Amino acid sequence: MEQSRLQSGPYPADHRQSSRSVAGGELAALQTAWRGVLEYWLECGIEFRSGDRLEFVTPPSRGRGNQSAVVEVVAQPAAPSPLPTRPPFFRPVEREPVVAAPVVTAAPLLDAGLRDASFPAPLPVAERPARLASLAAEVAGCTQCGLAKTRTHTVFGVGSPESSVVFVGEGPGAEEDLRGEPFVGAAGKLLDHMLRAIALDRSQVFIANVVKCRPPGNRNPQLPEVAACQGYLFQQLEIIRPRTIFCLGKFALLCLTGHDDTVGRARGKPFFWRGIPVIASYHPAYYLRTPGRKRAAWEDLLRLSQQLEQMQ
Ligand code: URA
Repeated sequence: MEQSRLQSGPYPADHRQSSRSVAGGELAALQTAWRGVLEYWLECGIEFRSGDRLEFVTPPSRGRGNQSAVVEVVAQPAAPSPLPTRPPFFRPVEREPVVAAPVVTAAPLLDAGLRDASFPAPLPVAERPARLASLAAEVAGCTQCGLAKTRTHTVFGVGSPESSVVFVGEGPGAEEDLRGEPFVGAAGKLLDHMLRAIALDRSQVFIANVVKCRPPGNRNPQLPEVAACQGYLFQQLEIIRPRTIFCLGKFALLCLTGHDDTVGRARGKPFFWRGIPVIASYHPAYYLRTPGRKRAAWEDLLRLSQQLEQMQ
């Protein structure tokens, strides 16, 4: 069967070479999974031609090698748009020019000293899981702010301790509070699609929040709560030492960079946390409220994808 193989974006070349095709029920399951990603791309305004055959190559996971699936595009997206065109797996996207440093206004309650502190030496990869586990145990017993009284579980974070990218959300919602895991509700499902769209999945990244306990009634975290929890996030980042940080929403951006203006004004500008590039992006919940803005997510994901490629 003729299949157009896509460039594999962030995967190392050897992953690609060891990829294999799957058949039967396994293929159907993969195609179903990828159809969601394709829909997401279409919602972002990315153009595909009817009849395009897209082969998706997944990273190796759960003891299995790479897998590939072919999805056939049967319809044209409703609203063609000039930018972005296609995901980076088809062709390299143009590098964006470096823009001037942003205006940063530090929120007074947050500890800028802590934010700007220098790094200790990087932790050997083998030691990271144990360090994260002991930090998670500390977080589980935390009573530094009032959120401790109303939480069911603390939500420490999940993912790979050697990840190149850490996604930082705001704080757990109701489902996350019940399960003790970040981004497992509706916003989490969208985040999964966003990851898939740039050929990543949860096991390859680390996902954390600014506050580790649910603000009651899904209200925003208050600054004293952010300030109380800030150190935990910073320790997570020190342990993992990612190459880039992706902020999901304004609280992550505020906590990591001190930028307390809107995400809209921050997007596309260069930010750093202790020298690590920080990408400012909207929270997935924002796209659930305003699906028409999903293209912004795609643009930011392309930025991330480019950064990871450049750093490889
Ligand atoms: N929103 C967040 O910011 N974090 C979660 O874990 C879930 C929803």
